[in-house]
Amino acid sequence: MTKLTTLADHLAADDTASSALKGVVSTIADTCARISKVVASGAISGSLGAAGHVNVQDEEQKKLDVITNDMLSQALKADAAVAGLASEELETIEATGRTGGFLVTFDPLDGSSNIDVNVSVGTIFSVLPAPEGKSPAEADFLQPGRNQVAAGYAIYGPQTMLVLTLSKGVVGFTLDADGQWRLTHADIAIPADTAEFAINMSNQRHWAEPIRRYVDGCLQGKDGPRGKNFNMRWVASMVADVHRILMRGGIFMYPWDAREPEKPGKLRLLYEGNPMSLIVERAGGVSTDAKGAILDIQPTKLHQRVPVVLGSANEVALVADLSRG
Ligand code: AHG
Ligand code: MN
Ligand code: MN
Repeated sequence: MTKLTTLADHLAADDTASSALKGVVSTIADTCARISKVVASGAISGSLGAAGHVNVQDEEQKKLDVITNDMLSQALKADAAVAGLASEELETIEATGRTGGFLVTFDPLDGSSNIDVNVSVGTIFSVLPAPEGKSPAEADFLQPGRNQVAAGYAIYGPQTMLVLTLSKGVVGFTLDADGQWRLTHADIAIPADTAEFAINMSNQRHWAEPIRRYVDGCLQGKDGPRGKNFNMRWVASMVADVHRILMRGGIFMYPWDAREPEKPGKLRLLYEGNPMSLIVERAGGVSTDAKGAILDIQPTKLHQRVPVVLGSANEVALVADLSRG
């Protein structure tokens, strides 16, 4: 059997990225490979369950949220090309004392509600340019998603995979038994059409009218305005729901809802919305907050939330049309 290309060989062959950026991606990928082992060891390593405190998002932290946040933070601080980092689990940004290079934002463990029930979780990351000649401050992280120089995620599922975009295209690697990332998905593309939607239906009564109308149309299937039957999936780990869409198409929605009307949505722009939107756009899909491209939003707050509608281009266009009225 011929050996599949390693991540290291794939990065070495990429002449669009600097060696410093490739190094940062390798640092993150190496850490995700180590996180995969901790996740897989579950109750054996005592890493399941609640940490016993609430994070800056006002959410109960799990032990694994804390463990994975520490692992990524430590690895990134040791990388000479990283000037600062921001995490969903940390109240403020952390500057490394270096200037230039890159800023990294991350959701160290996505899908916390699934950890203890052995359902896929993941890590999401975004790499932005750091300011030259000064230590980064919070304001330096507030860059539109279009500025990202790399984005990706690891999914800890039946297979552990790393999905990555640098300057173009989306590629996927699978972690082999020796802990090497192997290129298994050379050019990931999202089909423009789909008959599968993903949304937390239990929030239906809180949705705005356009989302209700869209989902109603799907639920009516062949007998309704869409004239075809739809399937529904909701893993409740964004990584897993987005990964499915990258593999076979679909639409993922976590829209604004009326439970906490002052919040634009549940998902976070810098750790979830932006990296996933870059990956989806690079794979030929569309990602919107139902008004415009998520990647064009100028962030105003580190932990800013955003409504998210992403996936197969024609399906997302329908939701955007309904939302514009
Ligand atoms: P996190 O575990 O990082 O807080 O993210 C959870 C997010 C996302 O992964 C998922 O799409 C969504 O929350 C699920 O929300 P519900 O529990 O409301 O379904
Ligand atoms: Mn998350
Ligand atoms: Mn998380």
